[in-house]
Amino acid sequence: MVIRGSGMFVPAGVVTNDRMSLLMDTSDEWIQQRTGIRERRFARRGTSSSELGLEAARRALEDAQLTASDIDLIVFATMTPDHYFPGNGGILARQLGLSSTPALDIRMQCAGFLSGLQVSDAFIRSGTYHRILLVGAECHASFFPWTEEVWAVLFGESDGPVAPEARAWGTTHRDRAVIFGDGGGAFVLEGHGEDDGRGFLGFEMRTDGNHWDKLHVPGGGSASFPYFTPEMFEDNRTIPIVEGRQVFRLATTAMPQIVLEVLNQHRLSIDELSLLLMHQANLRINEAVQKSLKLPDEKVFNNIQIYGNTTAATLPLVYHEAKKAGKIQAGDLVCFTALGAGLHWGAGLTRA
Ligand code: ACO
Repeated sequence: MVIRGSGMFVPAGVVTNDRMSLLMDTSDEWIQQRTGIRERRFARRGTSSSELGLEAARRALEDAQLTASDIDLIVFATMTPDHYFPGNGGILARQLGLSSTPALDIRMQCAGFLSGLQVSDAFIRSGTYHRILLVGAECHASFFPWTEEVWAVLFGESDGPVAPEARAWGTTHRDRAVIFGDGGGAFVLEGHGEDDGRGFLGFEMRTDGNHWDKLHVPGGGSASFPYFTPEMFEDNRTIPIVEGRQVFRLATTAMPQIVLEVLNQHRLSIDELSLLLMHQANLRINEAVQKSLKLPDEKVFNNIQIYGNTTAATLPLVYHEAKKAGKIQAGDLVCFTALGAGLHWGAGLTRA
């Protein structure tokens, strides 16, 4: 399986750290020091994750010089779907003008796109499908109960001040509010008949459900009875819980290990790797992974500084920008790795 085309789309609304500090007790210095993030994009009210995915998908199809009718399967990874159900796959198919192309939804958060790559590779290898549109898109903005007044301050359209209760909420949730960003990314994947060594070599995926509660949304689901209650909103149980320090520790040990495992599986050494594309949850995590694998700066590429953590959209965003920056040349050995809520983590290798 090869990546025939890629595309990305981020909403226009840039929210800088300085803007964030008008809503909560934080600072550009704190955020940059702890996470490397300078700014992120947030979608405006009325823009959903399927719409971000749609624009990314259109761009990936254009890059591949194909149209939607050339696609045999859509795979959509997101943790912020337009609706609780149905998933975004069918909604995207409809938006692309398709009415019978099958669509598969993946809910694996930050590891969702990587899992989508593995599933696509297996489908293509088995001959079930030849050409797959894989999309990852997130609209985290919809998690936050911010009013238009708050959004206007964040987008730089007003200098506030915001209401004291909004500021209190922002400060209580500041660890989560500053790390996410919105966006969409897409790949057009297809079988590669030629025996020239190009394409995906394989994947190593892991799940440890013992850590399910390190990153989760407590309310809204069948574990609650009923699904949603007014108290749930009052108690902020619809906002993600992030046990940041523990996730940080797990990520910095699990990601280097799984990268070495997938290389080992294919009898390749870390020295043969041309580029490592990591999930972008925190620049400090990625620096620790890079250090642990003793990779020079030219063998990694990060863009969390301007997008924040875009969850399932991250890997296509980072791949697309690395490619545009000339960091991926024919024959390069590229490794994708991600870790996220579940906990799910893994790595996949491809020869460009
Ligand atoms: N600005 C200023 N101070 C802050 C902020 C902020 N934005 N956020 C937290 N703090 C404060 C806390 O209130 C706390 O203060 P206290 O010591 O007075 O109580 C102090 O900083 C330390 O708080 P921690 O939450 O322990 O901060 P930490 O250094 O761990 O940074 C972060 C938080 C950035 C989330 C980090 O832990 C991290 O990157 N973790 C891994 C990434 C992650 O979990 N991402 C989510 C993935 S999402 C997914 O998979 C769906």
